[in-house]
Formats: sequence, C-alpha cells, structure tokens
Amino acid sequence: MHPTAEKLSSAEWMDRAKHVLVPNYKQAPIVAVRGEGVYVWDVEGKRYMDLIGGVAVCALGHCHPELVSVIKAQAETLWHVSNGTYIAQQIELASRLTALSGLDRAFFCNSGAEANEGLIKLTRKFMDDSGRPARHEIICFQQSFHGRTLATLTATGQPKYQKGFDPLPAGFVYADYGDLESVRRLVGPHTAAVLVEPVQGEGGVKPAPEGFLKALRALCDEHGLLLLVDEIQSGMGRTGKAFAFQHEGILPDAISSAKSLGNGFPIGAVLAREKVAATLGPGSHGSTYGGNPLGCAVANRAVELCTAPSMLEQVARLGSHLVAGLLTVQARHPAKVKEVRGKGLLVGVELAEEAAPALARIRERGLILNLAGERTLRFAPAFTVTEAQLDEAVAIVEAAL
Ligand SMILES: Cc1ncc(COP(=O)(O)O)c(C=O)c1O
Repeated sequence: MHPTAEKLSSAEWMDRAKHVLVPNYKQAPIVAVRGEGVYVWDVEGKRYMDLIGGVAVCALGHCHPELVSVIKAQAETLWHVSNGTYIAQQIELASRLTALSGLDRAFFCNSGAEANEGLIKLTRKFMDDSGRPARHEIICFQQSFHGRTLATLTATGQPKYQKGFDPLPAGFVYADYGDLESVRRLVGPHTAAVLVEPVQGEGGVKPAPEGFLKALRALCDEHGLLLLVDEIQSGMGRTGKAFAFQHEGILPDAISSAKSLGNGFPIGAVLAREKVAATLGPGSHGSTYGGNPLGCAVANRAVELCTAPSMLEQVARLGSHLVAGLLTVQARHPAKVKEVRGKGLLVGVELAEEAAPALARIRERGLILNLAGERTLRFAPAFTVTEAQLDEAVAIVEAAL
C-alpha cells in the first residue's frame, strides 16, 4: 500500500526514528502512510480523521484528485530549471496571486520562514535604497510566530523559541498584539516596519481585534513605515477571504505566503507593492528551488480552488458551524473550556488547563488536532470537510474532555 521499501510496523518505525532522527519534534505515536480527504491511515491501516491538515497546509485535503493529476502531468514534463530562465508556471502564479491580493509583484521560495526572511530583507534594502539606512528595526508582536531561521525566530515574540540561539540578529522589537498604543510607543528613528499576523496561529489562535490592522496601516502611513502581513497560516482562503488582511479593507506593503499555497508541496511567496519590490534588483536575493515548475503548477491549481468564491463561502459557513458546535461543548463544560475562538476554518479551543493530555485522548479516539500554545487545541481542517465530519470531531473532543 505504501511506497516505502521496507515493511515495518508502527512500533518498529518509531523505534528506529529514536536512533536516526534529530529529536527536535514532539511526535504523536502515528506513522502515517496514506491520506485521502480529511483521513490519514497508519502502517497498520488504522484510520484517523485529520483536522489539522499538516498544520493548516492541506486546505484541499490529502491527495486531492485534481492536484494529483496536475503534479503527475508536470512531473512528466519539467520538474526544475533555475531562475536563470523564465518559468511559465511561475509567471502564471505571480499573475494569479497579485490579482488576488492587490499587490504588484511576487518572489517565490520554499517555506514560510524563507518568505518572512524575504520580507525582512526587502524592508532593510528598501530603507537603505531610499536613503534611510538607520531604519532597520521591525516592530513585531508578543506571542507571534514567524519561523525558525535566525531572523524569523528573532521576529517571533516568544522567548522559548529563541533560548540557546544567541547571538540573535539585531533589529526586532515587540509590541502587545492588539494594542495600538504599545506599537506607537516603539516607533522611533530606527523603525522600518511593522510585521503582523492577522490571526496569531502558533500563539494560540488569536484573531486580531477588529480594526487593528486598519489602525496599523494608518500608523505606518503616518510614520513612513512598511506594513508587513504574515499570511502564511491565515492566507489562501483559510479565514473566508483569499487573504485575512482583506477583512479590514487595507493593502499592506508586502505579505508572506506558504502552507496552503502548495497544499503540501513546499512553496512560499513574498508579494509586494511595486515601490518596495523594485528594491530587490538582479543579484540581491534568490532561491534555487523558488518558484520551480513543479511547485508552481500545483500552487496554480491549489490557489484557484482554494480561493474560488464558492469555496470562501464554504469556509465561512463551515467555520461558523464548527465554532457553534464547540460553543455548545463549552456551555456544557464551562469549567473545562475557557474560550472558543478563530476565524473561518482556523479555530482554537482554549482549555482551563494544559491541553496535551486532552490532545492525546482525542488522538486515541481517532482524531488528529494539534496544540497552539500550552492550552489551546487547534483545528485547521481542509475546506472540503463536511458538517457531519465536524460534528463527529466535536463529539470526540467532548468525550475526551
Ligand atoms: C504565521 C506563520 N509564519 C511563519 C511560519 C513558518 O513557516 P515554515 O514552517 O513553513 O517555515 C508559520 C508556521 O507555522 C506560521 O504559522
């Protein structure tokens, strides 16, 4: 069934992993070998309902038939050429993403962290080119998450990710999420930009208060700063709009995208306004695999499907359905469930205590979720999930609590 050469049991794979993998991940005792829609199967054929979808990646579910046929066709045609030549699929994807976002130009890379690195480099170079080299500092937020490279883990406002990696790069300061005055207090002669997630995902599934992004846009305009929006988790329709900043009717100067962009094929993007994008001239930035034919072919179809108007309506409707179900659980167990929150199909259930034991019981009942922070269970299901599947998941969560 699975295309690995060796036939081992789950226990044997996990035992081998202990010896050969760098132990940097906390892993659930599941060896996944096959997926279809919202389901994955382990080596022994046990089926799980997967409502975290590779952490907000598989927005169209596992092995979506259209994406499978696109990747097969592209694999038989052209996998990779360098950015030393033009790549038709990449130009098409750039056209699609700029039209969707209202931004002007695209740069492609391979992951979220790399896209955010792109935002950071873009900001510094833009300020340098425009005669303001002292403006190198980016205002980020407490509890944010922007990636694991040295610069992006420094942009991440959570000391637990930074511990042990000193010296960290300079040029990042942290305001309180949702608190405009705390941002204003940090603006000074070195400030270049504000970097914000429309919904803090890893930080606990916390949507920005209504009007916050709009207020940040005004603040950036007042001080000549760039507004950078990290849409890595919130983009590609996840919140019911193609990009979550669009709920606020603003236009950022640049955004980062990854995760659902390739639905599991690793691809990231920076989208920027003309004046900012123009700063990255020939030789200033690059990525060997960035925007290769295979990734762009998949992303073109994925973006088209994920952001179709009927799909966005479906995300909003299913998100409300999930939240309504979870609120019923909260009403029945007010001492156990502190808060249910989210936007579209990015939903968190904050428990009154550490959520890891509940997560394990949920998994034992056949449902895969993950944690966002210590106390919050996170749902980021495929947009193709059904109401009945969401109801089943809510019942599992209630039973596990
Ligand atoms: C908002 C946000 N930014 C950046 C990243 C980093 O993306 P990657 O793991 O692809 O580098 C993540 C990953 O969880 C994320 O949620």
